[in-house]
Amino acid sequence: RRFLQTLGTITLVTVVASGGAFYYYAKREQHPGEQLDFDPEKKTLVILGSGWGATSLLKTLDTEDYNVILISPRNYFLFTPLLPSVAVGTVTPRSIIQPTRYVARHKKRKVSVIEAEATDVDPLKKTVTFSDTSDIQGQVWSTTIPYDYLVYAVGAETQTFNIPGVAEHACFMKELHDAEKFQTRFMDCVESAAFPGQSPEEIDRLLHMVVVGGGPTGVELSGELHDFLTDDLKQWYPELAERIRITLVEALPTVLPSFSKQLIEYTESTFKEAKIDVLTKTMVKEIKEKSVVVKMPDGSTKEMPMGLIVWAGGNKMRKLTADLIAKLPETQTNRRGLTVDDHLRLKGAESIFALGDCTATQYAPTAQVATQEGAYLARLFNSIARKDALEKQLKALQADPIKAEEQKTEVENLQKQLMKLEKLRPFHYSHQGSLAYIGSEKAIADLPIFGSGNLATGGVATYLFWRSAYLSTLFSFRNRALVALDWMKVKFFGRDVSRE
Ligand code: FAD
Ligand code: NAI
Repeated sequence: RRFLQTLGTITLVTVVASGGAFYYYAKREQHPGEQLDFDPEKKTLVILGSGWGATSLLKTLDTEDYNVILISPRNYFLFTPLLPSVAVGTVTPRSIIQPTRYVARHKKRKVSVIEAEATDVDPLKKTVTFSDTSDIQGQVWSTTIPYDYLVYAVGAETQTFNIPGVAEHACFMKELHDAEKFQTRFMDCVESAAFPGQSPEEIDRLLHMVVVGGGPTGVELSGELHDFLTDDLKQWYPELAERIRITLVEALPTVLPSFSKQLIEYTESTFKEAKIDVLTKTMVKEIKEKSVVVKMPDGSTKEMPMGLIVWAGGNKMRKLTADLIAKLPETQTNRRGLTVDDHLRLKGAESIFALGDCTATQYAPTAQVATQEGAYLARLFNSIARKDALEKQLKALQADPIKAEEQKTEVENLQKQLMKLEKLRPFHYSHQGSLAYIGSEKAIADLPIFGSGNLATGGVATYLFWRSAYLSTLFSFRNRALVALDWMKVKFFGRDVSRE
Protein backbone atom coordinates (compact mmCIF):
# COMPACT_ATOMS: atom_id res chain seq x y z
CA ARG A 1 0.00 0.00 0.00
CA ARG A 2 2.85 2.36 0.90
CA PHE A 3 4.49 1.55 -2.45
CA LEU A 4 1.27 2.46 -4.32
CA GLN A 5 0.94 5.67 -2.29
CA THR A 6 4.54 6.68 -3.15
CA LEU A 7 3.99 5.82 -6.81
CA GLY A 8 0.78 7.90 -6.82
CA THR A 9 2.56 10.89 -5.24
CA ILE A 10 5.45 10.68 -7.73
CA THR A 11 3.01 10.50 -10.66
CA LEU A 12 1.01 13.47 -9.34
CA VAL A 13 4.16 15.58 -8.80
CA THR A 14 5.47 14.68 -12.28
CA VAL A 15 2.15 15.56 -13.98
CA VAL A 16 1.85 18.89 -12.08
CA ALA A 17 5.53 19.77 -12.70
CA SER A 18 5.39 19.01 -16.45
CA GLY A 19 2.04 20.85 -16.74
CA GLY A 20 3.64 23.85 -14.99
CA ALA A 21 6.74 23.73 -17.20
CA PHE A 22 4.57 23.46 -20.34
CA TYR A 23 2.45 26.43 -19.20
CA TYR A 24 5.59 28.46 -18.35
CA TYR A 25 7.18 27.81 -21.79
CA ALA A 26 3.95 28.56 -23.65
CA LYS A 27 3.47 31.86 -21.76
CA ARG A 28 7.11 32.88 -22.21
CA GLU A 29 6.76 32.32 -25.98
CA GLN A 30 3.57 34.37 -26.00
CA HIS A 31 4.76 37.34 -23.89
CA PRO A 32 8.45 38.18 -24.34
CA GLY A 33 9.97 41.17 -22.49
CA GLU A 34 10.29 44.84 -23.46
CA GLN A 35 12.43 45.79 -26.51
CA LEU A 36 14.88 48.63 -27.18
CA ASP A 37 13.81 51.22 -29.77
CA PHE A 38 15.64 51.97 -33.05
CA ASP A 39 18.87 53.91 -32.40
CA PRO A 40 19.85 56.55 -35.02
CA GLU A 41 23.53 55.95 -34.10
CA LYS A 42 23.35 52.34 -35.27
CA LYS A 43 23.74 51.07 -38.82
CA THR A 44 20.72 49.89 -40.82
CA LEU A 45 20.71 46.23 -41.73
CA VAL A 46 18.05 45.28 -44.28
CA ILE A 47 17.20 41.58 -44.65
CA LEU A 48 15.31 40.33 -47.72
CA GLY A 49 13.39 37.09 -47.12
CA SER A 50 11.86 35.17 -44.24
CA GLY A 51 12.96 31.66 -45.17
CA TRP A 52 15.64 29.36 -43.75
CA GLY A 53 18.60 31.68 -44.30
CA ALA A 54 16.98 34.94 -43.20
CA THR A 55 15.29 33.40 -40.14
CA SER A 56 18.44 31.69 -38.97
CA LEU A 57 20.30 35.02 -39.27
CA LEU A 58 17.63 36.91 -37.37
CA LYS A 59 17.48 34.27 -34.64
CA THR A 60 21.24 34.44 -33.94
CA LEU A 61 21.89 38.14 -34.63
CA ASP A 62 22.50 40.51 -31.72
CA THR A 63 19.99 43.19 -32.72
CA GLU A 64 21.31 45.55 -30.08
CA ASP A 65 24.03 46.47 -32.59
CA TYR A 66 21.80 47.28 -35.59
CA ASN A 67 18.51 48.77 -36.69
CA VAL A 68 17.07 45.76 -38.51
CA ILE A 69 14.40 45.91 -41.22
CA LEU A 70 13.15 42.62 -42.65
CA ILE A 71 11.21 42.64 -45.93
CA SER A 72 9.43 39.58 -47.29
CA PRO A 73 6.21 38.89 -49.19
CA ARG A 74 5.62 36.01 -46.73
CA ASN A 75 5.16 37.15 -43.15
CA TYR A 76 6.13 33.76 -41.76
CA PHE A 77 8.86 31.12 -41.74
CA LEU A 78 7.91 27.87 -43.51
CA PHE A 79 9.34 24.52 -42.43
CA THR A 80 9.65 23.12 -45.99
CA PRO A 81 10.65 19.51 -45.08
CA LEU A 82 7.08 18.80 -43.92
CA LEU A 83 5.37 20.41 -46.92
CA PRO A 84 4.64 17.03 -48.61
CA SER A 85 3.01 15.93 -45.31
CA VAL A 86 0.72 18.97 -45.48
CA ALA A 87 -0.21 18.07 -49.07
CA VAL A 88 -1.87 14.84 -47.93
CA GLY A 89 -3.14 16.08 -44.57
CA THR A 90 -0.70 14.25 -42.26
CA VAL A 91 0.20 17.63 -40.81
CA THR A 92 -1.96 20.77 -40.77
CA PRO A 93 -0.62 23.89 -42.55
CA ARG A 94 -0.39 26.15 -39.50
CA SER A 95 1.69 23.62 -37.57
CA ILE A 96 4.73 24.16 -39.81
CA ILE A 97 4.77 27.94 -40.01
CA GLN A 98 5.93 30.52 -37.49
CA PRO A 99 5.17 34.23 -37.87
CA THR A 100 8.30 36.30 -38.52
CA ARG A 101 6.95 38.85 -36.03
CA TYR A 102 7.30 36.16 -33.38
CA VAL A 103 11.05 35.86 -34.09
CA ALA A 104 11.36 39.66 -34.27
CA ARG A 105 9.42 40.18 -31.05
CA HIS A 106 11.89 38.00 -29.12
CA LYS A 107 14.92 40.15 -30.05
CA LYS A 108 16.60 42.70 -27.76
CA ARG A 109 16.04 45.64 -30.10
CA LYS A 110 12.88 46.16 -32.11
CA VAL A 111 12.97 44.69 -35.64
CA SER A 112 10.78 46.23 -38.32
CA VAL A 113 8.97 43.49 -40.28
CA ILE A 114 7.44 44.62 -43.59
CA GLU A 115 5.26 42.30 -45.64
CA ALA A 116 6.29 43.34 -49.14
CA GLU A 117 8.18 42.16 -52.19
CA ALA A 118 11.55 43.69 -53.02
CA THR A 119 11.41 44.81 -56.64
CA ASP A 120 14.81 46.44 -57.05
CA VAL A 121 18.21 46.46 -55.36
CA ASP A 122 20.60 49.26 -56.28
CA PRO A 123 24.12 48.27 -55.14
CA LEU A 124 25.58 51.67 -56.10
CA LYS A 125 23.11 53.89 -54.28
CA LYS A 126 22.72 51.23 -51.56
CA THR A 127 18.92 51.24 -51.71
CA VAL A 128 16.11 48.69 -51.84
CA THR A 129 12.74 49.32 -53.48
CA PHE A 130 9.80 47.23 -52.34
CA SER A 131 6.07 47.00 -53.03
CA ASP A 132 3.04 45.89 -51.11
CA THR A 133 1.51 43.52 -53.64
CA SER A 134 -1.57 42.54 -51.63
CA ASP A 135 -4.78 43.63 -53.40
CA ILE A 136 -6.54 44.82 -50.24
CA GLN A 137 -5.96 48.51 -51.01
CA GLY A 138 -6.69 48.19 -54.72
CA GLN A 139 -3.33 49.69 -55.66
CA VAL A 140 0.35 48.83 -55.35
CA TRP A 141 2.32 50.84 -52.78
CA SER A 142 6.00 51.15 -53.48
CA THR A 143 8.84 52.79 -51.59
CA THR A 144 12.64 52.93 -51.52
CA ILE A 145 14.86 52.84 -48.41
CA PRO A 146 18.64 53.10 -47.91
CA TYR A 147 20.74 50.43 -46.21
CA ASP A 148 24.20 50.22 -44.68
CA TYR A 149 24.23 46.43 -45.06
CA LEU A 150 21.89 44.26 -47.08
CA VAL A 151 21.37 40.54 -46.53
CA TYR A 152 19.94 38.98 -49.65
CA ALA A 153 18.10 35.72 -48.87
CA VAL A 154 15.18 35.54 -51.31
CA GLY A 155 15.60 31.82 -52.17
CA ALA A 156 14.70 30.46 -55.59
CA GLU A 157 11.61 29.59 -57.58
CA THR A 158 10.60 26.36 -59.31
CA GLN A 159 12.41 25.57 -62.56
CA THR A 160 9.97 24.77 -65.37
CA PHE A 161 12.44 24.92 -68.30
CA ASN A 162 9.59 26.75 -70.13
CA ILE A 163 8.03 23.36 -70.88
CA PRO A 164 4.59 24.02 -72.40
CA GLY A 165 1.67 23.62 -69.99
CA VAL A 166 3.66 23.37 -66.73
CA ALA A 167 2.66 26.79 -65.40
CA GLU A 168 -0.97 26.37 -66.54
CA HIS A 169 -1.78 22.79 -65.55
CA ALA A 170 0.66 21.53 -62.90
CA CYS A 171 0.71 21.96 -59.13
CA PHE A 172 4.03 22.92 -57.51
CA MET A 173 5.41 21.92 -54.10
CA LYS A 174 7.34 24.96 -52.91
CA GLU A 175 5.03 27.15 -50.86
CA LEU A 176 2.28 26.47 -48.35
CA HIS A 177 -0.45 27.41 -50.82
CA ASP A 178 0.98 24.81 -53.26
CA ALA A 179 0.44 22.03 -50.72
CA GLU A 180 -3.08 23.27 -49.94
CA LYS A 181 -3.94 23.54 -53.64
CA PHE A 182 -2.65 20.00 -54.17
CA GLN A 183 -4.83 18.66 -51.33
CA THR A 184 -7.97 20.28 -52.75
CA ARG A 185 -7.27 19.17 -56.34
CA PHE A 186 -6.44 15.63 -55.23
CA MET A 187 -9.73 15.24 -53.34
CA ASP A 188 -11.53 16.85 -56.29
CA CYS A 189 -10.14 14.11 -58.56
CA VAL A 190 -11.23 11.37 -56.15
CA GLU A 191 -14.74 12.80 -55.61
CA SER A 192 -15.17 13.41 -59.36
CA ALA A 193 -14.16 9.80 -60.02
CA ALA A 194 -16.86 8.73 -57.52
CA PHE A 195 -19.56 10.54 -59.51
CA PRO A 196 -21.92 7.88 -60.88
CA GLY A 197 -22.12 6.82 -64.51
CA GLN A 198 -18.66 7.76 -65.77
CA SER A 199 -16.69 5.72 -68.29
CA PRO A 200 -13.98 3.45 -66.84
CA GLU A 201 -11.38 5.38 -68.90
CA GLU A 202 -12.40 8.69 -67.33
CA ILE A 203 -12.30 7.19 -63.81
CA ASP A 204 -8.81 5.82 -64.46
CA ARG A 205 -7.69 9.20 -65.82
CA LEU A 206 -8.98 11.07 -62.76
CA LEU A 207 -7.27 8.59 -60.45
CA HIS A 208 -3.87 8.78 -62.15
CA MET A 209 -1.53 11.03 -60.12
CA VAL A 210 1.74 12.00 -61.80
CA VAL A 211 4.74 13.43 -59.95
CA VAL A 212 7.49 14.95 -62.15
CA GLY A 213 11.01 15.05 -60.70
CA GLY A 214 12.72 12.24 -58.83
CA GLY A 215 14.62 14.60 -56.51
CA PRO A 216 13.85 14.54 -52.78
CA THR A 217 10.68 16.68 -53.19
CA GLY A 218 9.11 14.34 -55.77
CA VAL A 219 10.13 11.20 -53.89
CA GLU A 220 8.81 12.40 -50.53
CA LEU A 221 5.52 13.52 -52.06
CA SER A 222 5.06 10.15 -53.82
CA GLY A 223 5.72 8.36 -50.51
CA GLU A 224 3.23 10.52 -48.61
CA LEU A 225 0.63 10.05 -51.33
CA HIS A 226 1.03 6.29 -51.08
CA ASP A 227 0.48 6.45 -47.29
CA PHE A 228 -2.71 8.46 -47.74
CA LEU A 229 -3.93 5.87 -50.21
CA THR A 230 -3.23 2.80 -48.08
CA ASP A 231 -4.02 4.24 -44.64
CA ASP A 232 -7.17 6.19 -45.43
CA LEU A 233 -8.54 6.17 -48.97
CA LYS A 234 -8.86 2.37 -49.01
CA GLN A 235 -11.31 2.69 -46.09
CA TRP A 236 -13.33 5.64 -47.40
CA TYR A 237 -13.36 4.85 -51.13
CA PRO A 238 -13.02 1.04 -51.23
CA GLU A 239 -14.41 0.82 -54.78
CA LEU A 240 -11.93 3.42 -56.13
CA ALA A 241 -8.77 3.05 -54.05
CA GLU A 242 -7.47 0.04 -55.98
CA ARG A 243 -7.65 2.08 -59.17
CA ILE A 244 -5.58 5.03 -57.89
CA ARG A 245 -2.15 5.03 -59.59
CA ILE A 246 0.94 7.06 -58.69
CA THR A 247 3.61 7.58 -61.39
CA LEU A 248 6.93 9.25 -60.70
CA VAL A 249 8.69 10.57 -63.83
CA GLU A 250 12.43 11.32 -63.76
CA ALA A 251 14.64 12.35 -66.68
CA LEU A 252 17.86 10.92 -65.16
CA PRO A 253 18.71 7.18 -64.93
CA THR A 254 17.79 7.05 -61.20
CA VAL A 255 15.77 8.89 -58.59
CA LEU A 256 17.57 10.73 -55.74
CA PRO A 257 20.92 11.15 -57.53
CA SER A 258 22.43 12.90 -54.50
CA PHE A 259 21.96 9.84 -52.24
CA SER A 260 24.20 6.77 -52.15
CA LYS A 261 23.64 3.91 -54.60
CA GLN A 262 22.41 1.57 -51.88
CA LEU A 263 19.70 4.03 -50.78
CA ILE A 264 18.63 4.69 -54.37
CA GLU A 265 18.10 0.94 -54.82
CA TYR A 266 16.30 0.72 -51.47
CA THR A 267 13.95 3.57 -52.47
CA GLU A 268 13.25 2.07 -55.88
CA SER A 269 12.45 -1.35 -54.37
CA THR A 270 10.24 0.23 -51.66
CA PHE A 271 8.36 2.11 -54.40
CA LYS A 272 7.99 -1.10 -56.41
CA GLU A 273 6.42 -2.86 -53.39
CA ALA A 274 4.20 0.18 -52.84
CA LYS A 275 3.09 -0.01 -56.49
CA ILE A 276 4.43 3.45 -57.31
CA ASP A 277 5.47 3.38 -61.00
CA VAL A 278 8.91 4.90 -61.39
CA LEU A 279 9.71 5.96 -64.96
CA THR A 280 13.39 6.89 -65.16
CA LYS A 281 15.18 8.20 -68.27
CA THR A 282 11.78 9.64 -69.14
CA MET A 283 11.45 13.34 -69.91
CA VAL A 284 8.26 15.37 -69.66
CA LYS A 285 7.87 17.35 -72.90
CA GLU A 286 4.43 18.91 -72.49
CA ILE A 287 1.59 19.03 -70.02
CA LYS A 288 -1.95 19.30 -71.33
CA GLU A 289 -5.14 19.83 -69.33
CA LYS A 290 -5.87 16.10 -69.02
CA SER A 291 -2.65 14.39 -70.08
CA VAL A 292 1.13 14.54 -69.99
CA VAL A 293 3.41 13.96 -72.98
CA VAL A 294 6.67 12.18 -72.20
CA LYS A 295 9.72 11.12 -74.17
CA MET A 296 10.42 7.47 -73.30
CA PRO A 297 13.94 5.98 -72.90
CA ASP A 298 13.73 4.48 -76.42
CA GLY A 299 13.09 7.94 -77.90
CA SER A 300 9.39 7.38 -78.57
CA THR A 301 6.70 9.79 -77.37
CA LYS A 302 3.84 8.72 -75.13
CA GLU A 303 0.77 10.62 -73.94
CA MET A 304 -0.46 9.54 -70.50
CA PRO A 305 -3.93 10.61 -69.33
CA MET A 306 -3.84 11.98 -65.77
CA GLY A 307 -6.08 13.68 -63.20
CA LEU A 308 -3.42 15.58 -61.29
CA ILE A 309 0.21 16.41 -61.97
CA VAL A 310 2.80 17.83 -59.59
CA TRP A 311 5.91 19.53 -60.92
CA ALA A 312 9.01 19.16 -58.73
CA GLY A 313 11.67 19.89 -61.36
CA GLY A 314 14.22 21.79 -59.23
CA ASN A 315 15.20 25.43 -58.68
CA LYS A 316 15.84 28.49 -60.80
CA MET A 317 16.80 32.02 -59.79
CA ARG A 318 14.17 34.71 -59.19
CA LYS A 319 13.83 37.72 -61.52
CA LEU A 320 15.07 40.02 -58.74
CA THR A 321 18.28 37.96 -58.56
CA ALA A 322 18.73 37.97 -62.36
CA ASP A 323 18.28 41.77 -62.32
CA LEU A 324 20.89 42.15 -59.58
CA ILE A 325 23.34 39.97 -61.53
CA ALA A 326 22.77 42.12 -64.62
CA LYS A 327 23.80 45.21 -62.62
CA LEU A 328 27.20 43.69 -61.79
CA PRO A 329 28.30 42.22 -65.15
CA GLU A 330 32.01 42.19 -64.35
CA THR A 331 31.85 40.16 -61.16
CA GLN A 332 28.54 38.28 -61.40
CA THR A 333 28.97 35.83 -64.24
CA ASN A 334 27.34 32.63 -62.94
CA ARG A 335 23.96 31.87 -64.53
CA ARG A 336 22.86 29.60 -61.65
CA GLY A 337 22.86 32.32 -58.99
CA LEU A 338 24.80 34.97 -57.09
CA THR A 339 28.55 34.63 -56.63
CA VAL A 340 29.79 35.31 -53.09
CA ASP A 341 33.22 35.22 -51.45
CA ASP A 342 34.26 33.05 -48.46
CA HIS A 343 32.48 35.48 -46.11
CA LEU A 344 29.24 35.37 -48.15
CA ARG A 345 29.88 38.91 -49.38
CA LEU A 346 28.47 39.52 -52.85
CA LYS A 347 31.29 39.86 -55.37
CA GLY A 348 31.21 43.39 -56.74
CA ALA A 349 29.07 44.87 -53.94
CA GLU A 350 30.82 45.34 -50.58
CA SER A 351 27.72 45.99 -48.49
CA ILE A 352 25.60 43.09 -49.74
CA PHE A 353 25.75 39.59 -48.31
CA ALA A 354 23.89 36.70 -49.96
CA LEU A 355 23.04 33.21 -48.79
CA GLY A 356 20.88 30.15 -49.41
CA ASP A 357 19.20 29.06 -52.62
CA CYS A 358 19.75 32.38 -54.43
CA THR A 359 23.52 31.81 -54.47
CA ALA A 360 25.61 29.54 -56.68
CA THR A 361 28.16 27.87 -54.41
CA GLN A 362 29.80 24.47 -54.02
CA TYR A 363 26.96 23.48 -51.66
CA ALA A 364 23.57 21.96 -52.51
CA PRO A 365 20.57 24.27 -52.21
CA THR A 366 19.31 22.92 -48.91
CA ALA A 367 17.81 24.22 -45.67
CA GLN A 368 20.82 22.84 -43.84
CA VAL A 369 23.23 25.03 -45.82
CA ALA A 370 21.01 28.15 -45.63
CA THR A 371 20.61 27.77 -41.84
CA GLN A 372 24.35 27.45 -41.23
CA GLU A 373 25.04 30.40 -43.53
CA GLY A 374 22.43 32.51 -41.68
CA ALA A 375 23.97 31.72 -38.29
CA TYR A 376 27.47 32.42 -39.68
CA LEU A 377 26.38 35.81 -41.02
CA ALA A 378 24.84 36.71 -37.65
CA ARG A 379 28.20 36.01 -35.99
CA LEU A 380 29.96 37.98 -38.72
CA PHE A 381 27.68 40.99 -38.15
CA ASN A 382 28.23 40.74 -34.41
CA SER A 383 32.00 40.90 -35.07
CA ILE A 384 31.60 43.82 -37.50
CA ALA A 385 29.64 45.73 -34.83
CA ARG A 386 32.34 45.00 -32.24
CA LYS A 387 35.00 46.14 -34.70
CA ASP A 388 33.09 49.36 -35.44
CA ALA A 389 32.75 50.07 -31.70
CA LEU A 390 36.49 49.47 -31.09
CA GLU A 391 37.46 51.68 -34.03
CA LYS A 392 35.27 54.46 -32.65
CA GLN A 393 36.88 54.09 -29.20
CA LEU A 394 40.38 54.09 -30.72
CA LYS A 395 39.64 57.13 -32.86
CA ALA A 396 38.39 59.05 -29.81
CA LEU A 397 41.58 58.19 -27.88
CA GLN A 398 43.92 58.97 -30.79
CA ALA A 399 42.20 62.29 -31.46
CA ASP A 400 43.84 63.64 -28.31
CA PRO A 401 47.66 62.85 -28.44
CA ILE A 402 48.15 63.55 -24.68
CA LYS A 403 45.32 61.22 -23.75
CA ALA A 404 46.61 58.59 -26.20
CA GLU A 405 50.10 58.74 -24.64
CA GLU A 406 48.67 58.47 -21.10
CA GLN A 407 46.58 55.49 -22.04
CA LYS A 408 49.18 53.76 -24.25
CA THR A 409 48.41 50.30 -22.94
CA GLU A 410 44.70 50.82 -23.55
CA VAL A 411 45.42 51.94 -27.15
CA GLU A 412 47.66 48.89 -27.76
CA ASN A 413 45.04 46.63 -26.30
CA LEU A 414 42.36 48.06 -28.59
CA GLN A 415 44.66 47.70 -31.61
CA LYS A 416 45.32 44.06 -30.75
CA GLN A 417 41.61 43.33 -30.41
CA LEU A 418 40.98 45.05 -33.73
CA MET A 419 43.65 43.02 -35.48
CA LYS A 420 42.02 39.83 -34.24
CA LEU A 421 38.66 40.96 -35.59
CA GLU A 422 40.19 41.92 -38.96
CA LYS A 423 40.78 38.24 -39.61
CA LEU A 424 37.13 37.18 -39.80
CA ARG A 425 36.83 33.47 -40.27
CA PRO A 426 35.43 32.29 -43.61
CA PHE A 427 32.20 30.31 -43.78
CA HIS A 428 32.64 26.60 -43.18
CA TYR A 429 29.80 24.16 -43.89
CA SER A 430 29.44 21.12 -41.68
CA HIS A 431 27.27 18.46 -43.33
CA GLN A 432 25.02 16.70 -40.83
CA GLY A 433 23.68 14.14 -43.31
CA SER A 434 20.72 13.81 -45.68
CA LEU A 435 17.34 12.40 -44.73
CA ALA A 436 14.24 11.68 -46.79
CA TYR A 437 10.89 10.03 -46.11
CA ILE A 438 9.92 7.45 -48.76
CA GLY A 439 6.50 6.34 -47.49
CA SER A 440 5.32 3.04 -45.90
CA GLU A 441 6.81 4.28 -42.59
CA LYS A 442 10.31 4.06 -44.06
CA ALA A 443 12.94 6.75 -44.42
CA ILE A 444 16.48 6.85 -45.80
CA ALA A 445 19.52 8.54 -44.28
CA ASP A 446 23.04 9.23 -45.55
CA LEU A 447 24.93 10.16 -42.40
CA PRO A 448 28.62 11.18 -42.31
CA ILE A 449 30.58 9.35 -39.62
CA PHE A 450 33.52 11.30 -38.24
CA GLY A 451 35.22 11.79 -41.58
CA SER A 452 35.38 8.05 -42.29
CA GLY A 453 32.71 7.85 -44.98
CA ASN A 454 28.96 7.58 -44.88
CA LEU A 455 26.47 5.46 -43.00
CA ALA A 456 23.66 4.67 -45.44
CA THR A 457 20.60 3.41 -43.66
CA GLY A 458 16.94 2.90 -44.51
CA GLY A 459 13.85 1.40 -42.91
CA VAL A 460 11.45 1.78 -40.01
CA ALA A 461 14.12 2.71 -37.41
CA THR A 462 15.39 5.42 -39.79
CA TYR A 463 11.80 6.61 -40.10
CA LEU A 464 11.63 7.08 -36.30
CA PHE A 465 14.99 8.89 -36.46
CA TRP A 466 13.62 11.07 -39.33
CA ARG A 467 10.58 11.98 -37.24
CA SER A 468 12.60 12.84 -34.12
CA ALA A 469 15.17 14.80 -36.17
CA TYR A 470 12.47 16.89 -37.86
CA LEU A 471 10.58 17.38 -34.61
CA SER A 472 13.69 18.76 -32.94
CA THR A 473 14.55 20.98 -35.96
CA LEU A 474 11.10 22.60 -36.03
CA PHE A 475 11.25 26.27 -35.30
CA SER A 476 9.56 26.66 -31.94
CA PHE A 477 8.12 24.82 -28.99
CA ARG A 478 4.66 25.68 -30.41
CA ASN A 479 5.52 24.07 -33.79
CA ARG A 480 6.86 20.96 -32.07
CA ALA A 481 3.73 20.60 -29.93
CA LEU A 482 1.40 21.13 -32.94
CA VAL A 483 3.23 18.69 -35.25
CA ALA A 484 3.39 16.02 -32.51
CA LEU A 485 -0.37 16.48 -31.96
CA ASP A 486 -1.04 16.23 -35.73
CA TRP A 487 0.88 12.94 -35.89
CA MET A 488 -1.10 11.60 -32.94
CA LYS A 489 -4.40 12.78 -34.46
CA VAL A 490 -3.65 10.96 -37.71
CA LYS A 491 -2.69 7.78 -35.80
CA PHE A 492 -6.02 7.80 -33.92
CA PHE A 493 -8.49 9.29 -36.42
CA GLY A 494 -6.77 9.06 -39.82
CA ARG A 495 -6.40 11.86 -42.38
CA ASP A 496 -9.29 14.12 -43.24
CA VAL A 497 -10.83 13.40 -46.65
CA SER A 498 -13.11 16.44 -46.82
CA ARG A 499 -12.41 18.84 -49.67
CA GLU A 500 -12.02 22.49 -48.70
P1 FAD B 1 13.67 30.17 -48.72
O1 FAD B 1 13.56 29.36 -47.49
O2 FAD B 1 12.92 29.74 -49.94
O3 FAD B 1 13.27 31.67 -48.35
C1 FAD B 1 13.18 32.68 -49.31
C2 FAD B 1 12.42 33.84 -48.68
O4 FAD B 1 12.49 34.97 -49.53
C3 FAD B 1 10.93 33.53 -48.50
O5 FAD B 1 10.52 34.02 -47.26
C4 FAD B 1 10.28 34.31 -49.62
O6 FAD B 1 8.96 34.70 -49.31
C5 FAD B 1 11.20 35.52 -49.68
N1 FAD B 1 11.16 36.26 -50.95
C6 FAD B 1 10.88 35.80 -52.19
N2 FAD B 1 10.92 36.81 -53.08
C7 FAD B 1 11.23 37.93 -52.38
C8 FAD B 1 11.38 39.28 -52.73
N3 FAD B 1 11.24 39.71 -53.99
N4 FAD B 1 11.66 40.17 -51.75
C9 FAD B 1 11.81 39.78 -50.48
N5 FAD B 1 11.68 38.50 -50.08
C10 FAD B 1 11.39 37.59 -51.02
N6 FAD B 1 16.29 21.15 -47.40
C11 FAD B 1 16.87 20.37 -46.46
O7 FAD B 1 18.02 20.63 -46.08
N7 FAD B 1 16.21 19.33 -45.89
C12 FAD B 1 14.94 19.01 -46.24
O8 FAD B 1 14.36 18.06 -45.72
C13 FAD B 1 14.30 19.82 -47.22
N8 FAD B 1 13.03 19.54 -47.60
C14 FAD B 1 12.44 20.33 -48.56
C15 FAD B 1 11.13 20.01 -48.95
C16 FAD B 1 10.51 20.76 -49.93
C17 FAD B 1 9.11 20.42 -50.35
C18 FAD B 1 11.19 21.87 -50.52
C19 FAD B 1 10.51 22.70 -51.55
C20 FAD B 1 12.48 22.17 -50.14
C21 FAD B 1 13.12 21.39 -49.16
N9 FAD B 1 14.43 21.66 -48.76
C22 FAD B 1 15.02 20.89 -47.79
C23 FAD B 1 15.17 22.77 -49.38
C24 FAD B 1 15.04 24.03 -48.52
O9 FAD B 1 13.69 24.34 -48.28
C25 FAD B 1 15.71 25.22 -49.20
O10 FAD B 1 17.04 24.91 -49.52
C26 FAD B 1 15.67 26.42 -48.27
O11 FAD B 1 14.34 26.86 -48.16
C27 FAD B 1 16.55 27.57 -48.78
O12 FAD B 1 16.49 28.62 -47.86
P2 FAD B 1 16.53 30.13 -48.35
O13 FAD B 1 16.49 30.97 -47.14
O14 FAD B 1 17.61 30.33 -49.32
O15 FAD B 1 15.18 30.32 -49.20
P1 NAI C 1 15.97 18.54 -57.58
O1 NAI C 1 16.68 19.49 -58.43
O2 NAI C 1 16.71 17.82 -56.52
O3 NAI C 1 15.26 17.43 -58.48
C1 NAI C 1 14.51 17.77 -59.63
C2 NAI C 1 14.46 16.55 -60.55
O4 NAI C 1 13.55 16.81 -61.59
C3 NAI C 1 15.82 16.27 -61.18
O5 NAI C 1 16.23 14.97 -60.82
C4 NAI C 1 15.56 16.42 -62.67
O6 NAI C 1 16.26 15.47 -63.43
C5 NAI C 1 14.05 16.18 -62.76
N1 NAI C 1 13.45 16.83 -63.93
C6 NAI C 1 13.58 18.12 -64.31
N2 NAI C 1 12.91 18.33 -65.46
C7 NAI C 1 12.33 17.16 -65.81
C8 NAI C 1 11.52 16.76 -66.90
N3 NAI C 1 11.16 17.59 -67.87
N4 NAI C 1 11.10 15.48 -66.93
C9 NAI C 1 11.45 14.62 -65.97
N5 NAI C 1 12.22 14.94 -64.91
C10 NAI C 1 12.67 16.20 -64.83
O7 NAI C 1 14.69 19.34 -56.97
P2 NAI C 1 13.92 19.12 -55.61
O8 NAI C 1 13.60 17.71 -55.36
O9 NAI C 1 12.79 20.08 -55.64
O10 NAI C 1 14.96 19.60 -54.52
C11 NAI C 1 15.47 20.94 -54.52
C12 NAI C 1 16.55 21.08 -53.44
O11 NAI C 1 15.95 20.92 -52.16
C13 NAI C 1 17.63 20.00 -53.56
O12 NAI C 1 18.87 20.57 -53.24
C14 NAI C 1 17.26 19.01 -52.50
O13 NAI C 1 18.40 18.38 -51.95
C15 NAI C 1 16.56 19.88 -51.45
N6 NAI C 1 15.56 19.03 -50.80
C16 NAI C 1 16.00 18.21 -49.81
C17 NAI C 1 15.11 17.36 -49.19
C18 NAI C 1 15.64 16.43 -48.16
O14 NAI C 1 16.81 16.50 -47.82
N7 NAI C 1 14.82 15.55 -47.63
C19 NAI C 1 13.68 17.34 -49.52
C20 NAI C 1 13.34 18.23 -50.62
C21 NAI C 1 14.26 19.05 -51.21
